[in-house]
Amino acid sequence: MGTLLVLGTRPAAAATEPPPLRELADGAGIRLGVAVAWPELGRRPEVARLVARHFHSITPENALKWAPIEHQQGRRDLAAADALVGWALEHGLTVKGHALVWDQEIPAWLLGRESAELQSALDAHLSATLDEFGTGVHQWDVVNEALDPQGQLAPSPFITAFGPGHIDAAFRAVRRRLPDALLLYNDYDLSAGGPKTTGLLRLVDGMQARGVPLDGVGIQSHLDIARPPPPEALPALLAALHERGLVAHISELDVRIGRAGGARWGREAAQAWHVHRVARACIEAPACTALTVWGLYDGDHWTAREGLQREGPVLLDRALQPKSAFHALAAALRGEAPPVCTENIIEHGDLEDGARGWTTGGGVLRRTQAAAHSGDFGLHHDQRTAEWQGPVRDLSAHLGAGLDWRVALQARHDGPSDQPLRLTLRLEDDGGERFVPLAKVVAPPGEWVTLATEWTPKLEGPLRRADLYLEGPAAGVAVDVDDMQAGVVCPDS
Ligand code: G3I
Repeated sequence: MGTLLVLGTRPAAAATEPPPLRELADGAGIRLGVAVAWPELGRRPEVARLVARHFHSITPENALKWAPIEHQQGRRDLAAADALVGWALEHGLTVKGHALVWDQEIPAWLLGRESAELQSALDAHLSATLDEFGTGVHQWDVVNEALDPQGQLAPSPFITAFGPGHIDAAFRAVRRRLPDALLLYNDYDLSAGGPKTTGLLRLVDGMQARGVPLDGVGIQSHLDIARPPPPEALPALLAALHERGLVAHISELDVRIGRAGGARWGREAAQAWHVHRVARACIEAPACTALTVWGLYDGDHWTAREGLQREGPVLLDRALQPKSAFHALAAALRGEAPPVCTENIIEHGDLEDGARGWTTGGGVLRRTQAAAHSGDFGLHHDQRTAEWQGPVRDLSAHLGAGLDWRVALQARHDGPSDQPLRLTLRLEDDGGERFVPLAKVVAPPGEWVTLATEWTPKLEGPLRRADLYLEGPAAGVAVDVDDMQAGVVCPDS
């Protein structure tokens, strides 16, 4: 068995608190919001402190929806909404009203009732809600999620009872009561450029042609690193909305990572890239004035409440510590590249400050100056008894799906003739064990060669093994390696 060297550990998180995101957003020219719930916000003073520190506004996640307010006929429960609006105004934050008309949140006791009863109940709900909150809440998702995946108006009790004109009627009713508020249509799956995006533009064009008081569109942006949208689709939609004189909000950003494979670090790197991409698109688009994340920390996201523990979709982890996504949002607001897209994740890859974490399946590894390609040290591997034996670096704590990865290594051998030098990744996940050839060079004796490639992982579930290693020369041939690197390559970052 080869000499075993101790694996390194990642440095502890910095003790100082990151600067307020809202101050960075002020410099970037957008407003930042976060969805919050009550009583959860009131029960977690640290969460409340972070919300007030980092954001300009809140969106009540559920408290202003019709069903939670009027879950009992004739009895309106505004306690949560009052508490959230009161808390926000007390802390100098604004509130976005979400969502006045949404067929998924019609009180259950109203379903199946006659159209006239639904109409009068809806009128009463709009009047009462706007009477109560219209002075403190100046932006509203008036209608939420009225389109189907093909961009057509989806069947709903509202369509059945009132026809497609109910959307215009809702905006007109709210405008009559709130002449100065920002009135938005809000929907999901709009930033992939598909038929729903086309349907949205058809919807807003019709509304504008009919003189409906629509001010803007909420692009929810519930993303999944396993299903990345084409990056150019969101800027195109933002430009199209600007052409129409409409405001755009990224209204419900979260990026799920549970359906992708690999290590959490790598999946969170992909999440961070998507947060950065969406934030930059908003900052650079004249139409986009606000970005709201759909929850502050992973432990209180709706996916966690529904037991989807691997999703980790938002900015802070369960311990309220900033994740790569938080730092990527900060970087986007500063106009910098995302922090994960240039990072070399291999500790001691250049062997300068040690060789912890390097192992091998046979022979002897020695950190020595004679093996240096750059700097003062490299790794010398001799007494190899098989061609597959070589210096190994474990990537199982890092490698994740959702982005491309760059891997590189400098190597040479002392064989009597040309030898193949191969960079290989040995993987084991839910898809079983497999060997992925990443790079190969036939090298003459004693000559340093570069083994490098970019690679998109195809991973299934958590990684049980991800060994990046050199192999190839015949048994008995010694090899030197130095400057091993693996890092995330972000498209057009
Ligand atoms: O509070 C009750 C609790 O008392 C009860 O025991 C429990 C069991 O039924 O339900 C709890 O209410 C749940 C509520 O979330 C609070 O957790 C509702 O059932 C549940 O339907 C509701 O889900 C919300 C969902 O919208 C439907 O309104 C999610 O929290 C919320 O994150 C989600 O947000 C939506 C946006 O409004 C629109 N865009 C999509 C986005 C994500 O789905």
